[in-house]
Amino acid sequence: MSVPLSSPASRPLVVRTRGELRDALTRPVGAPTGGRAVVMTMGALHDGHLQLVRAARERVGAAGQVVVTVFVNPLQFGPGEDLDRYPRDLDADVALLAGLAEPAPGRPAVDLVFAPPVEEMYPGGDPIVRVTSGRIGTVLEGAFRPGHFDGVLTVVLKLLHLTRPDVAFFGEKDAQQLLAIRRMVADLDVDVEVVGVPIVRDDDGLALSSRNAYLSASERADALTLSRALRAGAAAAATGQGPAAAIEVASGMLNEHPGVVVDYLALVDPATVDDLEPDHVGPALLLVAARVGSTRLIDNLAVDVADPAASTARPGGTQ
Ligand code: PAJ
Repeated sequence: MSVPLSSPASRPLVVRTRGELRDALTRPVGAPTGGRAVVMTMGALHDGHLQLVRAARERVGAAGQVVVTVFVNPLQFGPGEDLDRYPRDLDADVALLAGLAEPAPGRPAVDLVFAPPVEEMYPGGDPIVRVTSGRIGTVLEGAFRPGHFDGVLTVVLKLLHLTRPDVAFFGEKDAQQLLAIRRMVADLDVDVEVVGVPIVRDDDGLALSSRNAYLSASERADALTLSRALRAGAAAAATGQGPAAAIEVASGMLNEHPGVVVDYLALVDPATVDDLEPDHVGPALLLVAARVGSTRLIDNLAVDVADPAASTARPGGTQ
């Protein structure tokens, strides 16, 4: 007799249509007292996504409802990007979610998975009316992926309307996306709390990403340069040599690797992604995007730009 990996009770209910979703939400599996949390994904789930789910369950408790959406949104892919080859395996995704610890005996970590086909999300074809991300959508990622953030915000707003959560979880891995979503929620009075979750990395520092699956062994070794360069840049910023030193150190490291083709490397204001003044002191965000072979990767790290005056202080000096 074989022992199932997880009990049937810990499997989420999987729904494909907005009608099934509406029914499942109006007849909640758990008591509705804990509130509803949503985690939006494009599938090909890894531990980064699972961390969002854990945070969601922790927030709403065993009595709340956790909904995960799985939808590869064509609207946010540009021509020539990886829409067609993006990994899709719903059974594997559901199995991963079913393997998460039950918040209470017989209660699944995830109550509901909403995995609509494209026609269900966009029944009339590409939507005519879309959310525009404004200036946030034209810089950094937006400059290299025109229309990307409008596509992200449009699907995120639709999924918020369809799932009606109290709280929605997004990863800091996509820092500019998180900022754009926060702005949309504030600017358009969307009644949801947005929670950011820190980046989950492999032991060697590589930020987990569904796109890491595209990397060969040697490309993966090259890809490690991104997180190493960010850490080196952060260390330089902490020495009091100003924002320019952080960029110089990080770009020097990236340039040593011909297999890594940098799209951008920038140190920005974490609240706006605006450029920093050359004499900026305090919190900042170091962001990188690069292509390794045919795979495009992004990463970022919070940086504290030290005050040059403080770092030249006399040793042993009193305050
Ligand atoms: P996807 O790339 O599948 O990511 C889904 C969520 O997981 C995002 O909030 C992302 O920031 C988070 N995430 C991915 N890797 C992570 C990591 N290593 N650590 C922490 N969080 C991580 O982002 C999208 O999908 C889409 O744009 C979406 C928001 C679903 C809209 O289509």
